[in-house]
Amino acid sequence: MALLFYSEVDDGEAWRRELMRRLPGLEVRLWPDLGDPKGIEAALVWRPPRGLLASLPALKAVFSLGAGVDDLLADPTLPDVPLCRMVDPSLVATMGDFLLAVALYYHREFDRYAELQRACRWQTRLPRPLAETRVGVMGLGEIGAPVAERLRDAGFTVRGWSRTRRSLAGVACFAGATERDAFLAEVDVLVCLLPLTPETRGVLDAELFARLPAGAALVHVGRGGHLVEEDLLDALDRGHLRGAWLDTVPFEPLDADHPFWRHPRIRITPHVAGYGLPETGAAFVADNLQRLRDGRPLRGLVDRARGY
Ligand code: GLV
Repeated sequence: MALLFYSEVDDGEAWRRELMRRLPGLEVRLWPDLGDPKGIEAALVWRPPRGLLASLPALKAVFSLGAGVDDLLADPTLPDVPLCRMVDPSLVATMGDFLLAVALYYHREFDRYAELQRACRWQTRLPRPLAETRVGVMGLGEIGAPVAERLRDAGFTVRGWSRTRRSLAGVACFAGATERDAFLAEVDVLVCLLPLTPETRGVLDAELFARLPAGAALVHVGRGGHLVEEDLLDALDRGHLRGAWLDTVPFEPLDADHPFWRHPRIRITPHVAGYGLPETGAAFVADNLQRLRDGRPLRGLVDRARGY
């Protein structure tokens, strides 16, 4: 069986090595070395060019290198074969590391110290107990739930919101449209980890920001399509929001002349918060390939109608 690998931001050689170590008979072809497309039965991809997957006549399954599959579903030529998202402990771990660091950044006020440094002012701000910072996680799925637990275990006060009700020990959980505003009302650091679906497109808008307490920060690690850019700029410029850490933006890569780059209250990272690493992610993909061969149910199967 041959698998096509496509990603401009992952280490293809490492994925090939880790996959072949687990499935010695597997042939991993790194794009653009497709060879004979008729031999390719599976694809492991991140944001492939439109039409690439449709050009593989023997394709039996598509595996996403990311947990989010919105980009694949937006391809009108996506073949009608099973589509699986990445389910991998390293994706949860890297996202958890990232969010812990950013939540601490706001908790320990590194944003304010940066402003003070620009003004050459030596001014002490006394540290507060970690539990005084309320982190709100929107999206309590495969990544959001364990990440909320990790932030809780670190000592933050954690609240969570999801479309359907979830229950996590020590995390105040809210669900659905009717409980959204109650969730937002007591959040100092809002983390967006929602999947991008027609329902969630544009959720990070003026109306939502207005529900947050004055001085809250946004940490956006979902998808650019959740964010209404001008509403964010307005909330920051009016001082309602204290800052925003954007790991994802509506158009990636972010244009060099985009105002986000130079905004004093915005921090940008280039979509790096959570990564499925080959050392562990390959175990998940290899298991799914074996399942595909054996005709057993695949793991991480996407419900296309739901969008994740
Ligand atoms: C990253 O954005 C992912 O979908 O895993």
